[in-house]
Amino acid sequence: MAIEYFCKKDVVESCVKKLSDAGRVARDAYFNSDAKDLLRKEVAYRDPDFLEMLGYTKEIEVVDSILTMLKHHGVADDAADYSREAFVGLRKEVKKKFTNNLVLQQTGSLGTITPVMERLLYMLTSVKRPRRIIAVGIFWGNAFIWNVGSSCGKGKVYDAEIVYGIDVNERAIENAMKNIAGFDSSDHIELIAGDGLELAETIEGPFDFVFLDVGTANDKRLNLPILQKLYSKLALGCWVVTHDTTLPFFKNQMRPYLKFVRDQHFFSESISFEVDQYGLELSIKK
Ligand SMILES: C[S@@+](CC[C@H](N)C(=O)[O-])C[C@H]1O[C@@H](n2cnc3c(N)ncnc32)[C@H](O)[C@@H]1O
Repeated sequence: MAIEYFCKKDVVESCVKKLSDAGRVARDAYFNSDAKDLLRKEVAYRDPDFLEMLGYTKEIEVVDSILTMLKHHGVADDAADYSREAFVGLRKEVKKKFTNNLVLQQTGSLGTITPVMERLLYMLTSVKRPRRIIAVGIFWGNAFIWNVGSSCGKGKVYDAEIVYGIDVNERAIENAMKNIAGFDSSDHIELIAGDGLELAETIEGPFDFVFLDVGTANDKRLNLPILQKLYSKLALGCWVVTHDTTLPFFKNQMRPYLKFVRDQHFFSESISFEVDQYGLELSIKK
């Protein structure tokens, strides 16, 4: 016997109110109790299921349109482009060499880094061609490999001088080392187990590309103080890229970070890429 439970009307109403208070549905949203098969008819950009699907949909077109947008805003040169072939080579190599990543083996993608995000990160460093990169909160190197993939392995399209990858979790750095070790031309990559806040103070700049994804499953507040400590070491025009900037769960925590990077005293432009449910912010140092 198949039995289905449905919660009561007052619980449904409390849920809709919570979604509305969290900014996930419009203030005038209502619950459609007559929806056929319990499916809604209206889809909005910020619906979590829409954004989740977007991360796996038409990634080439999405990243091409972002590149066009960067050119339009003068962030990238008119001639800027990235190698689609080198990206595909890198993707195959990552799938083969990131052998210790259970998430990759089970799902075919790298944790919260969706296919469109992989391509976007690769395109950004391919276009910017940074010589000195610092990435904080790299865990096992999942996002990191798409930041550095344009200067090593099958994705290599230019020479970088130094790339620091930092994480406070020693075991994560050991695994990141194993993952990165298999890539050709990766001698310029230095992985460090340590506190990003302390290292931001002592590490020698300048940097022309920063990647930040620091925190825990519940807390993303460290990205801002780390960036503030690094700020004086950032070259003019440095690109600062931060992951997980649009996830509703972190909305309140990310607000001070977004306020800082969108302040024209510090950054000339700051662009939010809502290409999946996690999001990415690119900020250009003034
Ligand atoms: C969301 S995870 C990063 C995920 C990673 N970018 C990826 O693609 O898999 C956040 C990372 O920040 C690291 N972290 C937390 N506090 C830190 C700190 N004070 N300094 C450096 N890393 C830190 C955690 O160990 C964790 O690996």
